Amino acid sequence: EQKQYFSTELLSWYRRHKRDLPWRRSRNPYHIWVSEIMLQQTRVDTVIPYFNRFMDKFPTVEALAEAPEDEVLKAWEGLGYYSRARNLQSAVREVKERYGGVVPDTKEEVSSLKGVGPYTTGAILSIAYNKPEPAVDGNVMRVLSRYFLIEDDIMKGSTRVSMEKLAQELIPEGAAGDFNQALMELGALVCTPKSPSCLTCPVMAHCAGRAAGVEESLPVKTKA
Ligand code: ADE
Repeated sequence: EQKQYFSTELLSWYRRHKRDLPWRRSRNPYHIWVSEIMLQQTRVDTVIPYFNRFMDKFPTVEALAEAPEDEVLKAWEGLGYYSRARNLQSAVREVKERYGGVVPDTKEEVSSLKGVGPYTTGAILSIAYNKPEPAVDGNVMRVLSRYFLIEDDIMKGSTRVSMEKLAQELIPEGAAGDFNQALMELGALVCTPKSPSCLTCPVMAHCAGRAAGVEESLPVKTKA
């Protein structure tokens, strides 16, 4: 079936082809969290050196919680969207105060942290804790809309909700973190917004968007 094939082939492809990225070398939830915040509006290549420097300077929840804000902002300089850094530090302070410095592992607790939306919540729970939660961002919606030929407007909340449901159903038993990262990786390296590399795609054989010849016009997205 189309779903089973997708999950199996994508996971296998990821395990063979994944990039060696600094935040993939551990499952430390704090590391995963920082990386996901940095990656929200910034490309992987740009993030790598910032992530490495940030972890040298602020290696733990305690270190970041106790650092002066201006040092944190200085370490963020060049990444932009500085509210990300301010929210991250205030949420990390909350983790120190409320949870003894341990990043929580429930959806309710993680999603209530400042600056942590549904996507980041799913990324932290799945990548750090291997919990079967979806992590759906724009890249993932592009991949799913093409493979399953979903023509709903991705700007609509109801579309995101149905994609989250679908993404959760697709998670292979015990492999949530790898599978969610596989979806991101496919969107970043193969199923790109323009001129996707369908001929190297591990799931092309059952891609409904490709079969219909509409892959490049998906996802459907209205208004800016
Ligand atoms: N973009 C967002 N999260 C990512 C991750 N964990 N790896 C690579 N790219 C990403």
